[in-house]
Amino acid sequence: MHKDLKKIIVSHEQIDERSKELGKELTEYYKDKKAPIVVALLKGSVPFLAKLIPHLELNIEIDFMDVKSYEGTESSGDVRILKDLDQSIKDDNILIVEDIIDTGRTLCEVKKLLYNKGANDIRVVSLLDKPSRRQVDIKADFIGFEIENEFVVGFGLDFNEKYRQLGYVGVLKDELYQ
Ligand code: IMP
Ligand code: MG
Repeated sequence: MHKDLKKIIVSHEQIDERSKELGKELTEYYKDKKAPIVVALLKGSVPFLAKLIPHLELNIEIDFMDVKSYEGTESSGDVRILKDLDQSIKDDNILIVEDIIDTGRTLCEVKKLLYNKGANDIRVVSLLDKPSRRQVDIKADFIGFEIENEFVVGFGLDFNEKYRQLGYVGVLKDELYQ
């Protein structure tokens, strides 16, 4: 375990196993549908994306988006687009890949943006879910692990851009947040 962590809450083995299961569920979901464009939200979803896609027995395409929630005003759910999709998604099925759903604001805004671009069906798969923190009524369709209300790092998740490379998800020692 990395020296800055106080505990691991999801191990690499658990992520491997769960990604395989989610891959099966998603393959089943899209079986008789148009294969989705997989839209990964940068940067946190990248390790999970890489784990998940080998288990999708579907003719997917992959695209990336980078969005940032406006900071400060709690009331504003708006997001700023740092990187938009490369392609048109009109009438396409979209599978959004996220690292974690916290308040739900980012996901809610991204879904609106993608529906405005003409997407047909939008589904969400998220490695982690913190349902206790939700501020907008939104659910991921496919969830890796539900976790407690704790700030976590690793497997794509960062604290000030650090710890994304860890092969597992854990909680930082309290003194590191000060
Ligand atoms: P939301 O709009 O509040 O759902 O924010 C989701 C985004 O906040 C995620 O995509 C993460 O980038 C970030 N985030 C939320 N919770 C955590 C956490 O525990 N650790 C690291 N990043 C987090
Ligand atoms: Mg994120």
